[in-house]
Amino acid sequence: MVGRVEPCRIVELPEIVDPRGSLCVVESGKEIDFDVKRAYYMFGMPPETRRGGHGHRRLRQLIIAVHGSFKVDVDDGFSRRTFVLDHPRRGLYMTPMVWRDMVDFAPGTVGLWLVSETYDESDYYRDYDEFLRDARSGA
Ligand code: TYD
Repeated sequence: MVGRVEPCRIVELPEIVDPRGSLCVVESGKEIDFDVKRAYYMFGMPPETRRGGHGHRRLRQLIIAVHGSFKVDVDDGFSRRTFVLDHPRRGLYMTPMVWRDMVDFAPGTVGLWLVSETYDESDYYRDYDEFLRDARSGA
């Protein structure tokens, strides 16, 4: 079976360079293949923090370190990859049915999530064994 970490990829965002400061754009249908229904961001993560630790049934997402850096470990139940987010010009696009953990937050990091669904706890896998069972059975 083809694993789902393959469609997780780094997206280089178009940057409008200006001596007054750069401007990056994320547009539905261009950099991402979903309409953004929700945005959330995180800040104030202590460096030793581990966040995430869940998967989604339907939700697609683009994760951007708008300031600072962190690592995202992704796992589709078959294989694992680690992505480093360390520039606001770069986003991590993720498909559904991928477990993710975030680690190694640099001090002052601000992470931004652009996601395809409104908040719905029933879309979450919070239990890794349940995720693994469904991911491996092709749910
Ligand atoms: P959670 O998804 O558990 O964060 P982590 O990235 O560490 O897995 O979210 C933390 C809390 O915030 C949890 O109680 C759910 C709540 N939450 C919302 O109410 N709305 C949201 O859009 C998000 C992302 C989280």
